[in-house]
Amino acid sequence: MASAAESFTPLLLISSLLVASWFCATEAKSTVPVVQGLSWTFYQSSCPKVESIIRKQLEKVFKKEIGQAAGLLRLHFHDCFVQGCDGSVLLDGSASGPSEQDAPPNLTLRARAFEIIDDLRERVHKECGRVVSCSDILAIAARDSVYLSGGPDYDVPLGRRDGLNFATRNATLDNLLPPFANADTILSSLAAKTFDPTDVVALSGGHTIGISHCSSFTDRLYPTQDPTMDKTFANNLKGICPASDSNSTTVLDIRSPNNFDNKYYVDLMNRQGLFTSDQDLYTNKKTRGIVTSFAANQSLFFEKFVVAMIKMSQLSVLTGKQGEIRSSCSVRNSGSSYLESVVEEGFEALSELI
Ligand code: HEM
Repeated sequence: MASAAESFTPLLLISSLLVASWFCATEAKSTVPVVQGLSWTFYQSSCPKVESIIRKQLEKVFKKEIGQAAGLLRLHFHDCFVQGCDGSVLLDGSASGPSEQDAPPNLTLRARAFEIIDDLRERVHKECGRVVSCSDILAIAARDSVYLSGGPDYDVPLGRRDGLNFATRNATLDNLLPPFANADTILSSLAAKTFDPTDVVALSGGHTIGISHCSSFTDRLYPTQDPTMDKTFANNLKGICPASDSNSTTVLDIRSPNNFDNKYYVDLMNRQGLFTSDQDLYTNKKTRGIVTSFAANQSLFFEKFVVAMIKMSQLSVLTGKQGEIRSSCSVRNSGSSYLESVVEEGFEALSELI
């Protein structure tokens, strides 16, 4: 029979985890200002079930394939960094030109992530009509991806509107840095978006889940091996990617690729970061101390990650009467959006009667 102490330990662990995630959520709420037009309770009367619909569905999706969590988290990051969190990355190309999706940094976004967002959009609009934006659905889905992979739970300010157009290829390239960028480049680029070094190191912790294609890091293996990379790690990577353009993939965090935890920072301290943009955070004196503090203290990482994510999720958002609420996440509404919503809601009411 288990001793009192043995049965007490898991209880203690669970309650301290709950306290830690509650602390994260409440502390973030009081430290990150909410931009005008967004609010913590935006859909309280118009679509009170939006968050539970998304969470329940993602629980099912991730049970089958946890990798999709990484795809959704990255999609939200790519949405927010280019032209703000306006769902522009979700738009397909049109006669006016190729979409953001066609720009190089977005070519490795998962096709399935776009499908999951469209499916969530359909479920949410079936319940509430066309009131929740695709950009909000993506922000909630990214939060749930973090939480359901073992990371912190937190509230997301809501009320974003969807953009009417996508960014150009050049704007996309300017805002999404390449994996060969060093820490100084990343720090100055992200400072322009109001992120401080702690935010930068915390956000990079998104690489605690997910995968990469060989082409994103083989510049560190061929023709010469990056001396900052652990030798055994490099040899293993060479086995996975025998040439610089090999088509394989590998995990971003070798210690726990599917768990949202602080092991990514332990990887960096062991010179097992996959990209230069990861490893240089440990090499650079300005960020090294932050990396070691997160490697030693997962709660601290979670707390700073939540703050940085809430900041990121509010970059240049459209609110109020700006933009629109898309009927389909991959195309902008055509014509009068008011007329469309009246027609759509009419159809929904009719189909319930039949
Ligand atoms: C300096 C900033 C960053 C750079 C240079 C960068 C670069 C990359 C690259 C090259 C990949 C792999 C693409 C591929 O070859 O398949 C990747 C994957 C990923 N990134 Fe980043 N990233 C950055 C910041 C972030 C941030 C801020 C987040 C989220 C908070 C994030 C989340 C992810 C995730 C989850 C994946 C895995 C995606 C999947 O498995 O489908 N990244 N990133």
